[in-house]
Amino acid sequence: MKLIDGKAIAEQVKLEIAEEVKAMLAQGKRAPHLAAILVGHDGGSETYVAAKIKACEFCGFRSSLIRFEEDVTEETLLAKVRELNEDEGVDGFIVQLPLPRHISEQKVIETIDYRKDVDGFHPINVGRMSIGLPCYVSATPNGIIELLRRYEIETSGKKCVVLGRSNIVGKPMASLMMQKAYPGDATVTVCHSRSKDLVKECREADIIIAALGQPNFVKADMVKEGAVVIDVGTTRVPDASKKSGFKLTGDVLFDEVAPKCSYITPVPGGVGPMTIVSLMKNTLLAGKKEIYS
Ligand code: GUN
Repeated sequence: MKLIDGKAIAEQVKLEIAEEVKAMLAQGKRAPHLAAILVGHDGGSETYVAAKIKACEFCGFRSSLIRFEEDVTEETLLAKVRELNEDEGVDGFIVQLPLPRHISEQKVIETIDYRKDVDGFHPINVGRMSIGLPCYVSATPNGIIELLRRYEIETSGKKCVVLGRSNIVGKPMASLMMQKAYPGDATVTVCHSRSKDLVKECREADIIIAALGQPNFVKADMVKEGAVVIDVGTTRVPDASKKSGFKLTGDVLFDEVAPKCSYITPVPGGVGPMTIVSLMKNTLLAGKKEIYS
């Protein structure tokens, strides 16, 4: 069994990005600039946004954090999105999700100029990705693709089961794994809460990508000997022995499943660090105007 070290790969990719930024500055260009909008004070969102800002510093990017309280109106938030769309000093920006219930996430996403949508959530980017055109790809699936590439994991002709059908992980992941490219060219099955033969599908899979958000859902008897298992889960499970009071828990029962795998990602330290790095890669592309001029 080989452990896929997302943390180490993420560090490596960040160093590569930092080198590119240095080269940009040496050519007299300015550093890429990422802005992040954070609404409210949700613990998870605060942690993720802080990590994104820290990664920007490491890469040599400029970053801006724009905060609103939980009761901000949809119109005020949309006005800020439109302002950032027009701001030539900002190359790309994100609105951290989830948003309070009185705000339509879809409306916010569709108001972001797709040319600055470094999260890859806008329907234009989603559509372009699904037909294989250059675009911003959503961070988690893109991070997983990068891990498969860097570990030179075979995907062509393999049976890949994606567990979960969310717009930001499951659906784009399935799309990328079936893409006519490497890593891709897989035969993809998407399983979700209504799937009848989920266990059988998993048992036949060469690659399982678990993105259900259900801690320890994937057990050893669901995994074929020699399978590749990618765990996207990051549920905060209460744990009194931790200083934070919780333990980040994946969708895979790691201790039981790992011995059967050819490759597996741990939680934490697997997919998570790659997600942030993917956002940095998209920001670099935005700064260089490489996808949309
Ligand atoms: N919430 C959970 N994941 C993400 C992400 O990748 N981007 C944004 N904007 N919000 C999120």
